[in-house]
Amino acid sequence: MTTLGTPLSPHATKVMLLGSGELGKEVLIALQRLGVETIAVDRYDNAPGQQLAHRAHTIAMSDPAQLKALIEAEKPDWVVPEIEAIATPMLEELEAAGVVKVVPTARAARLTMDREGIRRLAAETLGLPTSPYRFCDSLEQLQAAIDGSDGQAAIGYPCVVKPVMSSSGKGQSKIDGAQDVAKAWDVAMAGGRVNHGRVIVEGFIDFDYEITLLTVRARGADGQVQTHYCAPVGHLQQSGDYVESWQPQAMAPAALDKAQAIALAVTHNLGQGHDGQPSGLGLYGVELFVRGDDVWFSEVSPRPHDTGLVTLATQWQSEFELHARAILGLPVDTTLRNPGASAVIYGGVDGVDMVFDGVEEALAVPGTDLRLFGKPESFIKRRMGVALARHEDVEVARARARLAASKVKPRLG
Ligand SMILES: Nc1ncnc2c1ncn2[C@@H]1O[C@H](COP(=O)(O)OP(=O)(O)OP(=O)(O)O)[C@@H](O)[C@H]1O
Ligand SMILES: [Mg+2]
Repeated sequence: MTTLGTPLSPHATKVMLLGSGELGKEVLIALQRLGVETIAVDRYDNAPGQQLAHRAHTIAMSDPAQLKALIEAEKPDWVVPEIEAIATPMLEELEAAGVVKVVPTARAARLTMDREGIRRLAAETLGLPTSPYRFCDSLEQLQAAIDGSDGQAAIGYPCVVKPVMSSSGKGQSKIDGAQDVAKAWDVAMAGGRVNHGRVIVEGFIDFDYEITLLTVRARGADGQVQTHYCAPVGHLQQSGDYVESWQPQAMAPAALDKAQAIALAVTHNLGQGHDGQPSGLGLYGVELFVRGDDVWFSEVSPRPHDTGLVTLATQWQSEFELHARAILGLPVDTTLRNPGASAVIYGGVDGVDMVFDGVEEALAVPGTDLRLFGKPESFIKRRMGVALARHEDVEVARARARLAASKVKPRLG
């Protein structure tokens, strides 16, 4: 049974977001609509979510001591990781000690913060189809894995190299032939979040399209955990970063069945808490590659997914509302309201005190909406906003979202 309190009073229901960017900000808004007391944490001041939470804190979330001290001081009911770079072993300790509940589980946060944990779980423990892969700690090992000269199956060309700890395509490159291998190693070493000097090399999957299957574990009327799927979100990636997404992505029925089965297996496993008890309530973004009726698991976010920003324009309950409801033990509705699309607005410049021209022109495009995230600092390739569009025809929605995004002109003030 769920009982909700009143913010800033003795029985307040308190949620702490670890990471308060554009995705966390929307989760905070959804929680606040239900009268939840919110605490926004980030590594820099005035992060988007910090601008609207009841309290804001700036700490190094990868530092276990700082993280523990803050959780013990704030005593939230739930801790909701929004980013991967967090001291997850400390979260596991605090969860095991009953100090706090981690969404969906501390174990899920730990397994998905590096590519090795989640890939080995998906491919080796769960037996799900993935690209062929190897982990390597040196350029020599990388070359040997590609060639198969170490006695194991060759990954071959083309292939993709990624640091084990990185996101948004950082440090990632495609290798088409022997001439690219040393360069890809150097790019990975420069682009990793923590320089472990370890990479994954994956065989390149020549997919027809890729999707995010937003999957929700929520409590049903009988108190049991149920799994719900949103309509598939299609998306386009450039240099490993999402630039456009749309919903629904049309899929062959056999491919959709496989996609849901993979999502069920992964979220069911990640939803098991430290004591094996099923919990793991929340929304997950399961990334899949599709060719014909074949589906490959790529990776999963145990939290709202950037490509799912489109659901702000397409679903009765956006992925953020679904996450908020599921966490609180409330029922969810993943029904699509209307097809639509999203297109990313990049900063285009490095600097602070950004201003945005062209907002009227953008919103004059029929059926569109806009989110400007309010980030205090812009980088050329930093996501500063997103244009949203709805239309019965997904292709029209995509064109309108792109058009609206192109009208917004960020510049230094
Ligand atoms: N083995 C592969 N074969 C084909 N394309 C791939 C492969 N691996 C990655 N890609 C492409 O690169 C994109 C980014 O890869 P991936 O999701 O692993 O990186 P990421 O840095 O975690 O990105 P993000 O954090 O934005 O999800 C994928 O969405 C896909 O378009
Ligand atoms: Mg990804």
